[in-house]
Amino acid sequence: MSKIITAGNPILKMKAEAVTVFDKKLKILLEDMKKTLYEADGVGLAAPQIAVSKRICVIDDGNGYEEYVNPVWTAEGTETDIDTEGCLSVPELYGEVERYKKVVIRYQDRRGKRKEKRAEGLLARCIQHEVDHLDGILFIEKALSLHKGVASHE
Ligand code: CO
Repeated sequence: MSKIITAGNPILKMKAEAVTVFDKKLKILLEDMKKTLYEADGVGLAAPQIAVSKRICVIDDGNGYEEYVNPVWTAEGTETDIDTEGCLSVPELYGEVERYKKVVIRYQDRRGKRKEKRAEGLLARCIQHEVDHLDGILFIEKALSLHKGVASHE
């Protein structure tokens, strides 16, 4: 399990690098991210949050755990909604963020196999949040409003 870094750390502002080698080291990193995600009781975790500037995130939206290496998403339609988000790197701060309701995610698994899936609801919101991390963006920069407290759905 790794320490989760928080807003103010310059690594969180960097654009993360694509993964090109799918080796044992990647598997070890993913196992560490999985442990860290569950230990922190999070929905999603991006590699930069444990100070590794690589394009990887892990998500468990309540419907199962999945690893996303080099993820990209495209909106399916133009519908958006606004909901409360939090972030393990921004403790105790929550905010309303507008996201696309439906997306298609293209990514690779830990062996480098290319995959594609459609997502809506929490998973769609989460992948948009996590890919922002890979581009050096935190939800607090996009939030329509911010407040302290507990998010409604977490
Ligand atoms: Co986050």
